Amino acid sequence: MGKGLFISFEGCEGSGKTTQAEKLFSYLKKLHYDCLLTHEPGGTIVSEKIRRILLHHSNSSLYPLTELFLYLASRSQHTDELILPAIKKGTIVISDRYTDSSLAYQGVARNLSLELVHNLNRIATGGIIPDITFLIDIDPEKGLKRLKGKDRIENEEVVFHRKVREAYLNIAKKRKKRIKVINGEKSENVIFSEIIKITRLHPWFRGKLKHNLQGVEK
Ligand code: TYD
Repeated sequence: MGKGLFISFEGCEGSGKTTQAEKLFSYLKKLHYDCLLTHEPGGTIVSEKIRRILLHHSNSSLYPLTELFLYLASRSQHTDELILPAIKKGTIVISDRYTDSSLAYQGVARNLSLELVHNLNRIATGGIIPDITFLIDIDPEKGLKRLKGKDRIENEEVVFHRKVREAYLNIAKKRKKRIKVINGEKSENVIFSEIIKITRLHPWFRGKLKHNLQGVEK
């Protein structure tokens, strides 16, 4: 792809992916990398408006296809307005959720077909794919217990969330090179060291990491 590096975080509700995305962002910032932390649905003014529609309890009448198109609309705007320009200028972009969320939630758990969502994802993103995806895997029941309040999607039955988890694991099996499955039941610090190890091994850091690490990790 372009000059930057694109990292996404995926996982079921309460998997701890947001905490890990934030930790990776701070870590890379401390090493003086130009870094951007963003999330889906949302990330831009328009996409945040779409997010409000998607997650508000009062919108329980949303049909699965409408829901899919809204996630895609949010993603298309987010990609063109924020992600692509950042990657083009060499930034490390970390997104809390991206295309794999739609594959797992809408493609499988909502039964809309993986192929359909895959094709629409390609249109919405112009074909960009994260360089590394961390799938923080956790038993959905344990994850749901960690949540404080619940939005429209989080309010779904446990069976829905089990389908999401299975879908994620199957997607990861088919894309082993990109998607790294991390056991989300380990401690926060153990998970984080695995994430750093994998990130630093990415070829993008070759020749760059050493330089940046000097001066910070002494
Ligand atoms: P959010 O509050 O961002 O929570 P989380 O910490 O779980 O990411 O909620 C986003 C919700 O939207 C979450 O339940 C997953 C769902 N989602 C989809 O169903 N499809 C998608 O394409 C995306 C990006 C998110």
